[in-house]
Order: sequence, then C-alpha cells, then structure tokens
Amino acid sequence: MKILHLISSPRGEASFSIKLGNAIVEKLQASNPGSTVKTHNLANKPFPHLEEVHLNSFFTPVENHSPEQKAAIKHSDDAIAELQEADVIVIGAPLYNFNIHSTLKAWIDHIARAGKTFSYSEAGPEGLVKGKKVYVAISSGGVYTEGPV
Ligand SMILES: Cc1cc2nc3c(=O)[nH]c(=O)nc-3n(C[C@H](O)[C@H](O)[C@H](O)COP(=O)(O)O)c2cc1C
Repeated sequence: MKILHLISSPRGEASFSIKLGNAIVEKLQASNPGSTVKTHNLANKPFPHLEEVHLNSFFTPVENHSPEQKAAIKHSDDAIAELQEADVIVIGAPLYNFNIHSTLKAWIDHIARAGKTFSYSEAGPEGLVKGKKVYVAISSGGVYTEGPV
C-alpha cells in the first residue's frame, strides 16, 4: 500500500492534525505491512499560489509550452503523479479562520485540473482519479458536531 500524507499545520510538534494524521498512517501501516509513506509538509514547503503563468500552462497544449510554462506546470504534474500513485491519501486539515490552511488550498489548486483529474459531463463534475481512499485529519478549536455517536 502506498500512503501519501499531507500536512498543512504550521504548528509542528504541537499540531493536533499532524498527531491525528500520524496515528492514521501508523494504523494503516500496522494493518498493511510493507506499506510505503510519502509525507509532504505543505506549510514548510508550500506550493505557489496560482499565478497567470500557472493558469496559462494548464490551458496551453504541452507542445506549445514556453520554458516558463514548463517550469510552472511541473508543480502540478508532480503533485498529480504522486496522487495517482498513492492508494491512500491522509490529509491533515486544521481549521484556520473558518477555513483550511491556505497551503492546503494551494495544493488543491495544483491537483484540480480539468481534463486530467476531473471533467464536466451532463451529470455535472466527475472526478477522474478513481479508487483512492482518503482520510481527512481535521483539527479545530471549536466543536462543530454533536460529539461522538
Ligand atoms: C490563527 C488561528 C485561527 C483559528 N481559527 C479557527 C477557526 O476559525 N475555527 C476553529 O474552530 N478553530 C480555529 N483555530 C483553532 C485551531 O483550529 C486549533 O488550534 C487546531 O488545533 C489547529 O490545528 P493544528 O493543531 O493541527 O495546527 C484557529 C487557531 C489559530 C491560531
């Protein structure tokens, strides 16, 4: 089993979403001996916010890419390749100012590519990366559920 673990808390050892994500990864490894884990700390090494060059690279045919567009699309191509390679994705998603951390949003902006990871059909948008299991390790200061059931 190939596990991809994404961290987006900037709080390092104090982070609850990292602790929870690690606990999920450890359980997966225990029940699937020989699993490999790739960890990305998006808060320490963030993906760039989408700029014009990224968008142009997404919508320009590869054979017409300028050197700048080639460099710009690499972030996205690499992230998508990693996603496609993984069987299980563990996403640490702490709540900051009523939203996910901006480094996680930046990663999502690079892996959401029309025609590559999703497409539009008459039935609406359809995900093209199939057969993955995703665990989201959410941490927050507030309580947004009615508690354990
Ligand atoms: C700047 C900042 C903004 C936060 N905003 C929210 C929020 O909007 N809602 C909430 O429930 N908790 C909020 N919190 C609390 C965090 O979600 C909580 O500390 C959580 O443990 C953070 O995840 P981490 O421990 O993985 O970093 C905020 C904390 C900080 C420091």
